[in-house]
Amino acid sequence: MTYAYFNETFLPIEEVRISPLDRGFLFGDSVYEVIPVYEKKPFLFEEHILRLKRSLEETRISRPKQWENLEEIIGKLVELNRAINQSIYAQISRGVDINRSHIAEEDIEPTLFIMSSDLTLNPYRCENNIEGIKVSLQEDPRWKRCDIKATTLLPNIIALNEAVSSGSQDVIFYRNQEVTEGASSNIFLVFQGEVFTPPQSKNILTGVTRNHVINLLKDLNLTISERVIYIEDLFKAEEIWLTSSTKEIQPVSEINKKKLSVRSPEKALWRRVLENFHN
Ligand code: PDD
Repeated sequence: MTYAYFNETFLPIEEVRISPLDRGFLFGDSVYEVIPVYEKKPFLFEEHILRLKRSLEETRISRPKQWENLEEIIGKLVELNRAINQSIYAQISRGVDINRSHIAEEDIEPTLFIMSSDLTLNPYRCENNIEGIKVSLQEDPRWKRCDIKATTLLPNIIALNEAVSSGSQDVIFYRNQEVTEGASSNIFLVFQGEVFTPPQSKNILTGVTRNHVINLLKDLNLTISERVIYIEDLFKAEEIWLTSSTKEIQPVSEINKKKLSVRSPEKALWRRVLENFHN
């Protein structure tokens, strides 16, 4: 049985009932976080909560009344669910309104919903005979506030469906020749042993994993720069990585059906960084 948390209660996920008048359902008026849990311990928890706080502030959604107890609630949910590695999904919507109106009633309470899924560990951690990810390059169809972790992911889903139907597994987005990020990940490139990632802006989500990888690179005395990456750079790079809370670090080996000349895992920089990821 999989447990979730909703309406101040822990209950089997099938029993959760969300109102159709919830603004998360009607308008996508909600924000979320995905937090990986390894051996029952949430990873980079504070960083995820800080980003959730920012998403709430940017959307002017109030903090739910359980805000101060989030760590305890998530801890209990992790215990209630069996898997030792989990992915915690926490969503906060503006709440349930009495009518469908673009402007919300002032006194509504935010809805807090948290669930857990089993986390499949990153296969690139130790597999050497595994190809990198095949991606398709697509013009970024999203809005101008990609820095907010909002649940309105229809553009990402359309792009991913298109990628999958053309034989790719993921998407890299660009705007005006500038690479932004993946459909659910950030991007890093390696040139001549130096690492590059696009700078923080409203066009990308500042990934918790991205920031962790930047810190790891610095600890390893590797050169990391935040700078604009152009489409043409993708085809010159020695390595391309996608990072996220569920992917950790994963290499790209093909873009738009063009095979990249990438290093084998044993020789690649991403593997070295990944080896240090949890230390
Ligand atoms: N997505 N960019 C986008 C658009 C994302 O959706 C994600 C994560 C990231 C990486 O962020 P982080 O390192 O904090 O996970 C970047 C999550 C995993 C998801 O939507 O399931």
